[in-house]
Amino acid sequence: MVFMDLKRAGFSTRAIHAGDKIQEAEPVAIPIYQTAPFRFKDAAHGARLMGGKEEGYVYSRGLNPTTEVFEKRMADLEGGEAAMAQASGMAAISAAVLTEVKSGDHIIADEVIYGSTYDLFVDLKKFGVDVSFVDTSDIVNVENAFRPGTRLVFFETPANPTMKLSDIKAISDVAHERGAKVFIDNTFMTPYFQQPIMHGADVVIHSATKYLNGHGDTIGGIIVGTSEFIKQARHTAKNIGGAISPFNSWLIVRGMKTLAVRMDRHNENAMAVAKYLQRHDKVSAVLYPGLWDHPQHDLAKEQMSGYGGMVAFLLRDAEGVPAFLNSLHLCTLAVSLGDVETLIQHPATMTHSVVPREKRIKYGIADELVRLSVGLEDADDIISDIEQALDSI
Ligand SMILES: Cc1ncc(COP(=O)(O)O)c(C=O)c1O
Repeated sequence: MVFMDLKRAGFSTRAIHAGDKIQEAEPVAIPIYQTAPFRFKDAAHGARLMGGKEEGYVYSRGLNPTTEVFEKRMADLEGGEAAMAQASGMAAISAAVLTEVKSGDHIIADEVIYGSTYDLFVDLKKFGVDVSFVDTSDIVNVENAFRPGTRLVFFETPANPTMKLSDIKAISDVAHERGAKVFIDNTFMTPYFQQPIMHGADVVIHSATKYLNGHGDTIGGIIVGTSEFIKQARHTAKNIGGAISPFNSWLIVRGMKTLAVRMDRHNENAMAVAKYLQRHDKVSAVLYPGLWDHPQHDLAKEQMSGYGGMVAFLLRDAEGVPAFLNSLHLCTLAVSLGDVETLIQHPATMTHSVVPREKRIKYGIADELVRLSVGLEDADDIISDIEQALDSI
């Protein structure tokens, strides 16, 4: 309030402007910049920012200082040059992919990926982008799927929900030789256990809703890559409009402060649960890369420094799945993952129900498959709950 004496202003003006000068102070916690626009210093400053001649804060659909802390921290942890946060993991995936491809282009995607990502890729056909779904855990399939116009290879490793791995370095080498980029969804591992850029990937994407935030109380996503790619992605994202709220960025930044200790405990608890399930006669297979008999345990040791908190397992009898899930007390029947609470779900009827059944079965997402996000409760209590539920079927 500089143009007039506020004491002589009317009630409405004072209700909006009285006391609005922010005091200089250096908070220890990150402040939440809960604002849509930012004040320009003067007309020339506004024109430079809006004209793209200078970078700075204009409007929170673009840059926001709270969100920038999240972005810079993730770029650092993933070993990328820059990052851009989005309102959800899916907003991050769609912004990253739409930045890279145009009509007539081709994508190679792993056949086992999160259900909505699969659905997005199927929908890309409408825009003239063709996606080949192959099993990227075998490099030969990736090599064979290349054709003129292949722009990118997309996969999750471990894959949701079958926990199979793909070799980041081998796929990146093959893709780069053919002029394509590699995008990896690193949600399951987080940069604490796996840094795909270090192994050759170009772009890393996360659903920050999961381990990064860790407390199941917000939705968010992030893309990490080169400064040039993130600049282009900001252009795409500005117009699509999937900006994250500053408050959600703040929650994720707060969650990330304990990422390392949480991931260690998730890993420890998941290993205990996986070993318990392996011995149970109502369980026909346990899919956890930390187990020495996981078919890609050696690859896991090469490209991951831990195995994470996600465990999938197959019950002997698909008919027993609903009764098993309904008998759990401590493990919460819900989608999502990476929270302090143990979450359990049935991919065939829940997260991956969008994948047609014959394809799902072919991809290994069987009706008997159950996916467990092992939380931070005491491992013995999680195991006791699973045991009593298995006893009931
Ligand atoms: C591996 C993976 N990627 C992406 C997503 C999408 O994230 P969001 O729900 O934050 O949009 C999910 C959601 O479950 C996921 O499991």
